[in-house]
Amino acid sequence: MNDNIDGTRPARGVSAIAPREDGGFPNPGLPPHQHRRADVDPRAEKRAERIVAGLFLVSVLGTVLFIASYFLVTPHHKNLFAESGTWEALWWSNLVTGLGLAIAVFFIGAAAVHWAKTLMPDDEVVEERHPIRSTDESRGAAVDIITGGLDESGIGRRPLIVTSMVAALAALPIAVLAPLSTLGPMPGNKLHHTFWKSGMRLARDHDGTPIKASDVMMNSIFHVMPEDLTSETPHFLEERAKAATVIVRIDPKLGKNEESLANGYEGILAFSKICTHVGCPVALYEQQTHHMLCPCHQSTFDVTDAAKVIFGPAHRPLPQLPIEVDAEGYLVARGDFPEPIGPSFWDIHKDK
Ligand code: FES
Repeated sequence: MNDNIDGTRPARGVSAIAPREDGGFPNPGLPPHQHRRADVDPRAEKRAERIVAGLFLVSVLGTVLFIASYFLVTPHHKNLFAESGTWEALWWSNLVTGLGLAIAVFFIGAAAVHWAKTLMPDDEVVEERHPIRSTDESRGAAVDIITGGLDESGIGRRPLIVTSMVAALAALPIAVLAPLSTLGPMPGNKLHHTFWKSGMRLARDHDGTPIKASDVMMNSIFHVMPEDLTSETPHFLEERAKAATVIVRIDPKLGKNEESLANGYEGILAFSKICTHVGCPVALYEQQTHHMLCPCHQSTFDVTDAAKVIFGPAHRPLPQLPIEVDAEGYLVARGDFPEPIGPSFWDIHKDK
């Protein structure tokens, strides 16, 4: 191994390069070109061609799967795997259509990459650098063309045309607004109400069993739904999405907000599970700090202080569901959430 010009040893794995007499270094050039197997072996080329075609065909199958499942595995109508309108039907619909689309897109990409890597030309091309700036003659010619074009169009002499052109260009984007009128019915007051009603028991999510106040241990968290909300309920999935609630039990002495404590029962507090930022489920509870966290963008809500936002992009506290216990000791709602749940919207404070 040669020493560097300054007498030091080259770094491990690096060969010393002898400097030229003019102080520069000789162009080391490109390493010898390695031919791919498909370039030199016709059988390898044929095999690569068949693999690319196979990948494209798998993509076609994915597209067929997507189209078929879009009509045969729907959430609300026909569904080959589950009863329509149920949670399972939605799950199957999402799974199969998503899988079809993923296969269709992924295998087009895989085929293109394999095609490029094995069959497309593998020439090494060297392009010498050259100045990017145009010559003064070219720049002058470009300026002449632009100013000549402006003169010929007569923009400076025809204010009427200029004004009407500006009006036409300004009016055109308004056409984009027209399709908005066909986006479907307005939500009405649906965003202001959830399924919760006075006297409705709080039931464990998924198994639907009602919860007694005595079941809720200190610092525990439960994910709850209205007991009366079943898959037979009209718009079941929408109602589930809006009614999702979490309950936690804190030591009432830690409570910083009297009204919030009064809306709970002996330290058991119920809050909407839908983040007021953009609606992710707020499902992480830190027992030590009594903070609830949204996993999407880390909004953090202080349960001891009426679920006020203490960190993150959410702007509103989680709405609190007022609760009490019934004669048998089960937790029940005292009514609906006092304000809309989830992300804020244009007329959130409108009277219901
Ligand atoms: S949705 Fe919860 S922080 Fe963004």
